[in-house]
Amino acid sequence: MQHPTLIAPSILSADFARLADAAETVRAGGADWLHIDVMDGHFVPNLTIGPAVAAALARATDLPLDCHLMVSRPDDLLDAFAKAGARTLSVHLEACPHLHRTVQRVRALGMSPGVALNPHTAVAGLEPTLPDLDFVVIMSVNPGFGGQRFIPAVLDKVRWLDAWRARHHPDLRIEIDGGITVDTIGAARAAGCDTFVAGSAVFGQADPGAAIAALRRAATAGELSDRG
Ligand code: DX5
Ligand code: ZN
Repeated sequence: MQHPTLIAPSILSADFARLADAAETVRAGGADWLHIDVMDGHFVPNLTIGPAVAAALARATDLPLDCHLMVSRPDDLLDAFAKAGARTLSVHLEACPHLHRTVQRVRALGMSPGVALNPHTAVAGLEPTLPDLDFVVIMSVNPGFGGQRFIPAVLDKVRWLDAWRARHHPDLRIEIDGGITVDTIGAARAAGCDTFVAGSAVFGQADPGAAIAALRRAATAGELSDRG
């Protein structure tokens, strides 16, 4: 049984002077989650959104905020993002020496915990923590910027996770982030992804609502090709 497809437009590719309008556009266009890329200029070479902007977005939209922390010290920000209204929150495995503690803290603060893996990071290091997670984020670009090219090799990790969850944790969601377009989403869905972050493929289009619908159709086509 596959999880339903969730589309999570990434606000990183929206007009930062009009974030509330961007959130409303994708809500009306059928988005499921709003993905917030938090970058500290240290873990990744870019600086973006902090908890104050996330809190303002939480006031502006009913969409669940999916906060992706690309920061070197995520523990320092967990309370602030919980207070801001984050619904789901992912930290990077590469940034967490005490991952178990961090994940427990995310849940204790009332958020749904996920862990993100950079393209080069093996999934095996995450295995002991998988039972404690609600979702995994497979990065399909090197994090830092929107509009990069999809790295197909990461789908091997998705297939491994999909098989693992069938045996141990069927509720686990597999999110993929980076380079998702109508051309790549089908293969990601067929490999086992169910939650799709898309920045430029939504906000870079003239009609973001139509872009979300096109992504959903392409994901369904991938799902059917997997079954057929
Ligand atoms: C990359 C971010 C992504 C990014 C996706 O560091 O984590 O969420 O915004 O943008 P696209 O879909 O354009 O690759
Ligand atoms: Zn992201």
